Order: sequence, then C-alpha cells, then structure tokens
Amino acid sequence: MTMLDWDNPLETQTHNKTDVDSALVSNTLSRAASYKEVQTPSEEQNLNQNKLTPVNPEDKRVINGQTDINQLAPFKYPWAWNFFLNANKNHWTPLDINMAQDVTDYRHKLTVEEKHVYENVLSYLTTSDILAMRNIGLAVMEKMSAPELQIYQARQVYEESLHTWTYQHCIETIGLNQSEIYNRYRVVPEINQKICMANNRLDSVLRSDIDLKDPDELRNFVLSYMFFAAIFEGCWFYNGFSPVFALQRRGLMKGTAEQFQYIMRDEVMHAAFGIRVVKQIIQEENLKPDKKEIREMWDEAYEAEKAYTNYILRDQILGYSAEMHLGQFKYIANRRANQLGLDEEPFPEAESTLPWLDEQANLRKEKNFFETRVTEYQTGGALNWD
Ligand SMILES: [Fe+2]
Ligand SMILES: [Fe+2]
Repeated sequence: MTMLDWDNPLETQTHNKTDVDSALVSNTLSRAASYKEVQTPSEEQNLNQNKLTPVNPEDKRVINGQTDINQLAPFKYPWAWNFFLNANKNHWTPLDINMAQDVTDYRHKLTVEEKHVYENVLSYLTTSDILAMRNIGLAVMEKMSAPELQIYQARQVYEESLHTWTYQHCIETIGLNQSEIYNRYRVVPEINQKICMANNRLDSVLRSDIDLKDPDELRNFVLSYMFFAAIFEGCWFYNGFSPVFALQRRGLMKGTAEQFQYIMRDEVMHAAFGIRVVKQIIQEENLKPDKKEIREMWDEAYEAEKAYTNYILRDQILGYSAEMHLGQFKYIANRRANQLGLDEEPFPEAESTLPWLDEQANLRKEKNFFETRVTEYQTGGALNWD
C-alpha cells in the first residue's frame, strides 16, 4: 500500500502499515509515561482552582493580555475570525493562470519604456512581499495576546509567501534575469528608499527585548503596524499594481494582471485587518496618536512614492502617467486615514485619478481559466475595495 511519508511528504513511499502503527503506539506510550506526573494537579494548582476556569472573552486584549493564548473561543474579536473565513474564499495558485500570452507580449509587443515599468513593478513588489511576510510573521504575531488575531495573521503570512511565489512565477515564465531583478532594490535608489523605510520600521519592532508595557515601545509598535497596514500595504501595494492594470486595459500582460488581481484582494484584506487591530490597540491602551508623527509618516511615504513613480515612469507610456499614479496615492491615503479614524485627511485636495481602477481590479465571475475552470473563488459576495 502506498502511503504518504510524513517525514518527507513530497515523497510517497511504500510502508508496512503494521510497522508504522506499532511505532506510533510505542512512541505514544513512552510519551504518556513522561506526561503522567505533569497531568496530576499540583497542590498549588488545587489552591488556585479559580485560575482553571475557561477564559472570559472580556478579559482578552490585543496586546499585553493575560488570558490563555491557547484558547481560541469564545471570541472577543469575532471580526478577526470572519477575516480568516473570508480570506479562505480567495484561494488560488499562480499555476492556475495562463501566462503564455504574456511571454509573447513581453518579447514582441512591449516598448522599452513599458518593459522598464513592468520589470520595476515586479522587482519592487517581490521585495516588498518578503518584508510584509517578515513583519506579520516575525514581529507582529508574537505580540498578539488573543489567538483569533493570530489565526488570521498566520493566514496572512501564508498569503505573503503565495504572493512571493506568484512574482517568482511571473519572473521565471517571462524569462527575466533573476539575480538582476531580485537585486534591483539595492541598486536603484528610488526603490531602495521605500524598502529601507519599511525595513527600519520592521527592525525597530523585531527586537527580542521589546516590552509593550513601556509607553515608548508601545507607541513605536503601534506606529509601525499602522505604517505597514495603512501605507505599505494599504497605499504603496494597493497603488503598486496599477501600472500593470493599465497595460491589461490595453490587452497586454493580461496573465500577470490577473495574478495581481488575486494578490490585490488579499492585500485589501491585510490592510483592513491591520487597521482594525491598530484601532483596537489605540482604544484598549487609551492612546492618543501623535498628529505630528502621523503627518511626518504621510509626508515621508509621499516623497518616497514620488521618487519611485518618477523612476518607473521616467518615460511616458500609453494610458498611464506619473501624475495619475501620484494622484491616486493621495486619494487612497485619504481613504486609509478615514479607515483609521484619524481626524484629518492627509491630502484633502486629492481626487481619484484612476476612475477605472476598482473595475479593473475586480475579477469578473464570467471569466474562466483555460475556458473550462470557473474562477469565482470568492463565494461570499463581492469584496469591498475599501
Ligand atoms: Fe502580499
Ligand atoms: Fe499583505
């Protein structure tokens, strides 16, 4: 009988079932023997029986909580669980999308200027997704003290790695030079600046000695999470796909654009979830966000986006411009400020410069993979693009 080898699941091996079973039994028995003493309540535990009652959800906190992190429900944050359920409705792999036409488009139809845009968008996004994964998985998750928050964040970590796979699939399929594309963020200052801004924030919250009971550490952590959710994912990423959607509108690089549509769905949820968590911390910890600090964050983010935009769109392409890209950044930044519940919009004069974006970013349900496969994974109704 062919069985999956759990030590090496990619290899199927032929096992004698009896041998596997008996090994499991003896292993379990030896573990049971070593657990025996632990399972007997100690005198101290008997004296503290009240500590063994189920977790009261009202006692849960986003950070600095004292409740047992291993008890999922009852939920204090049922919305977090709903984010997890919703995230599982957007499920795909990059292999589901046909990239054949993109190879032809890239080789024979894109102009030099359009190739410059396409390659730099990929290069920027793929480095950013590594950072997004490290932020949530290594810096944020461990600080959460309610498990329902960590469950969605664990899904988010997976999604960021899926996005990284997607860019790699595009880079590999198109036949771009991998060393050059993945290293580009280090040699192009306009990309490097955005990556460094994020990396500095991440480094400041990735330390093992961080104590969120310290007001300065707490303020810095909240600001960093706000940056990653509202700016890094909510503005830079959200806006980052648009140049390729503009190519898609002209019938070019449609496979890549479809990959980006799936990624964008995830990113919209990442931004919304992060913003929700940040607001919850602000409420629970009774914090007053520093207006000046937040203003500086928007200004820095805008300046970095401006340099990046002027680099990727240094030469004009048809149907998309630096003015459109930057105008949309400001418009989306206002949306994120409103979601955060901040008093002031950072760019009150801004208007949407890409009126086609929401429509273009939506996956239409009549669309099929390879003519046969229905792609409407989102079964719970349309996503709200906010
Ligand atoms: Fe991502
Ligand atoms: Fe993300």
